[in-house]
Amino acid sequence: MLKRALITGITGQDGSYLTELLLSKGYEIHGIIRRSSTFNTDRIDHIYEDPHINNRRLLLHYGDLSTAEQLTNLIYNMQPDEIYHLGAQSHVRVSFDVPEFTGDITGLGTTRILEAVRNSGIRCRFYQAGSSEMFGSAPPPQCELTPFHPRSPYGAAKVYGHWMTVTYRDAYGMFAANGILFNHESSRRGETFVTRKITRAVARIHAGRQTKLYLGNLDARRDWGYAPEYVEGIWRILQQDAPSDYVLGTGEAHTIREFLEEAFGYLDLDWREHVEFDPRYLRPAEVDFLLADASKAHRALGWEPKINFGELVRVMVDADVEEIGMTPKGAGRAILEDKVGEWHQWAGSVSKYLEAAAGTALGD
Ligand code: NAP
Ligand code: GDD
Repeated sequence: MLKRALITGITGQDGSYLTELLLSKGYEIHGIIRRSSTFNTDRIDHIYEDPHINNRRLLLHYGDLSTAEQLTNLIYNMQPDEIYHLGAQSHVRVSFDVPEFTGDITGLGTTRILEAVRNSGIRCRFYQAGSSEMFGSAPPPQCELTPFHPRSPYGAAKVYGHWMTVTYRDAYGMFAANGILFNHESSRRGETFVTRKITRAVARIHAGRQTKLYLGNLDARRDWGYAPEYVEGIWRILQQDAPSDYVLGTGEAHTIREFLEEAFGYLDLDWREHVEFDPRYLRPAEVDFLLADASKAHRALGWEPKINFGELVRVMVDADVEEIGMTPKGAGRAILEDKVGEWHQWAGSVSKYLEAAAGTALGD
């Protein structure tokens, strides 16, 4: 019997990779997308299936985390085996500009899904996309037992979502699990997060299309990993015998300055000639140092990321160089071929899994 998964945030970085992973595992996938006046499905267009095709395994539904009624109907009618709740206003800096909205979508959105599951009376597994931002100013390394001390409206909203997930697990016996994920990046990372902002700029400077890059605080340290590896961890969290909470991260931290060195250096550029400070990118309160202790995930999930910091940077720079129509240096593609499983390739194609499974899907 095929498993059926519901993914909120399917159009985001993680949602798109998770969809590819689950398609490769034979799942039927339902994704919630927001109505938009322009197309917002770029990251999943390559796996989108025309509604007129029989036995589709990827089905999209309009919905919004601000409204409970429609979520409850959707979950009741769909009867998913697993729910991956990834949807959120996920930008930390922006959360200071729109704190109430962030609380509504990133915080209460979780409660709306949990309540929808409870009200529909179905038994399904629930994943909450928690964040290392919840640790905020707690000293590194941070693990599942580290007390939260968020430093942003986003971090505070995620703490609320985390504890609501624990509450529904304890109060109603739901299989509800929290991932506490440290920063993970890729060529699909949103363009305003610092890693992608840098790798895009490196590619454009290399191509002569841009000369300056404006950034804020270069001293913060982050534990950056490669996103496709993290969605494998997310899936494993929901395959355990009992629900629990897990930190996922690499155990290696670097400053933004080190990221700049690595990214510009890969294309023989000197970042000091191009980077300028702009205070608008500072946050009212900063998270200085995030470093994962993911030993529980290593032990219980058998999850170990393979792509290290330098490799991540090369994968991202190569992808951005390719995106602007130039030939990349090539180390990035070689790294993925060498280290990453077959569902995830440089081009990100999972079409062979779609073709292989045609005729076995549940249909709609
Ligand atoms: P992302 O790229 O920003 O994607 C966020 C997704 O949420 C998008 O699909 C977005 O839809 C959707 N969304 C936003 N507001 C919504 C609303 N009101 N109703 C329905 N959907 C809405 O984020 P990500 O990097 O994939 O991260 C996935 C999740 O993990 C998020 O919850 C994030 O907070 C959390 N997380 C991420 C990291 C990381 O390093 N990436 C680390 C820890 C935790 P649109 O495409 O229409 O905007
Ligand atoms: N975005 C951004 N833009 N960040 C900058 C810039 C800039 O121009 N200049 C410096 N930074 C610094 C930020 O101050 C922060 O210390 C660091 O770069 C990383 O910022 P982001 O890439 O925006 O990520 P984040 O760490 O704040 O949040 C991301 O990771 C969280 C997990 O720890 C997001 O993906 C969150 O959704 C996620 O939960």
